[in-house]
Amino acid sequence: MKRRKKKLFTPGPCEIPLSVFKAMGHIEHHRTPQFKQVMQDIQNGLQYIFQTNQLVITLCSSGTGAMEAAIVNVFKKNDKVLVVNGGKFGERWGKIAKNYGLQVLELSVEWGKAVQVEDIAQVLKKNQDVCGIFIQALETSTGVVHPIEELAFYLKKLSRKPLLVVDAISGLLTSALPMDNWGLDVVVAGSQKGLCLPPGLAFIALSSRAWEMAHVSDVPKYYFNLLVERKCLEQHTTAFSTPVTLMLGLQESLRLLQRQTLPRILDQYNKMQQLVLKTLTSWGLEIFSFFSSTAVIGVRAPNHIPSQLIIKKLKDDFDITIANGQEELKDKIFRLSYMGAIQMQDVRFLLSCLKKVLQDLKVPIGKKRAFQIKNREARL
Ligand SMILES: Cc1ncc(COP(=O)(O)O)c(C=O)c1O
Repeated sequence: MKRRKKKLFTPGPCEIPLSVFKAMGHIEHHRTPQFKQVMQDIQNGLQYIFQTNQLVITLCSSGTGAMEAAIVNVFKKNDKVLVVNGGKFGERWGKIAKNYGLQVLELSVEWGKAVQVEDIAQVLKKNQDVCGIFIQALETSTGVVHPIEELAFYLKKLSRKPLLVVDAISGLLTSALPMDNWGLDVVVAGSQKGLCLPPGLAFIALSSRAWEMAHVSDVPKYYFNLLVERKCLEQHTTAFSTPVTLMLGLQESLRLLQRQTLPRILDQYNKMQQLVLKTLTSWGLEIFSFFSSTAVIGVRAPNHIPSQLIIKKLKDDFDITIANGQEELKDKIFRLSYMGAIQMQDVRFLLSCLKKVLQDLKVPIGKKRAFQIKNREARL
């Protein structure tokens, strides 16, 4: 059978397995015993992926909805929180928190670099009343992975431990994030990345401490009320109309991911990352992110060519979509990603097309650059 050509090498949305598309091809009613079974399968799969015994709540929204749900459910107005801002999505934590009346301390991190746990420790020493830390596992706008395990380990030693809130919208499944084992308090994710689905679902899991805080939170909320959703989920249902087709797709994608197993998924991302980094640096390209993610690689556009020219030519000549940099990085970097239903041979194909595009744009290929980027291997 001829393989379908993979086109999306963007950090979301991503390519979707055929069986997931098929699973989404029909409709069911969501208040039936049969659908309760679907909800149960989904819960089992999400708990496996999040590595938690807590219930994982599915929300009908894009990933940002789960970020907002984290803030409005777990915190109180005027709570002092620390936001690690090393890119567009770190910045978003700050914007949402300020919108809901939290006091936000921002730790700015140069775009392309990962936060240092010592810098967080310094802020916490001076601000003992910080009750939450907001961070990305993978800052998708730069391709950088923050040191979540190291941070969680440091926080465990504190007598007044702030809650650790992790945006794993692109970090889930592409990096090791065992929620219970590391003691993460809130983990949020989205459907259009490692979970191999279209955009439209968001996920959130809370530790016992975070659930306790949810009982005293005074931030207004209605649609994203996690205590209400939790009660419904205990009955294998949702508070509002369930996005049935996406949920059927999720049931199938979780089945595929569980069959593949987390260690093998992470191993595949590690191998793809190695191939991409080695190939690009052997051509003389510069990797933008210092602690490079396994799944989103930021690359400096060579020879002062605006990224959009490279992106347009890849699209025109090969029907392949990659992403530009965002905001201040627009046209300065481009981002290659291979989340979702992408195999090694698809990555090789992407690299061969990119090489052709760069050669057509007269970029000298082959001035080997030292392989000086630090990587974080994703291992459980
Ligand atoms: C790390 C991160 N956080 C937040 C978001 C926002 O998610 P959404 O666009 O699904 O609302 C994204 C999306 O790319 C992301 O990668």
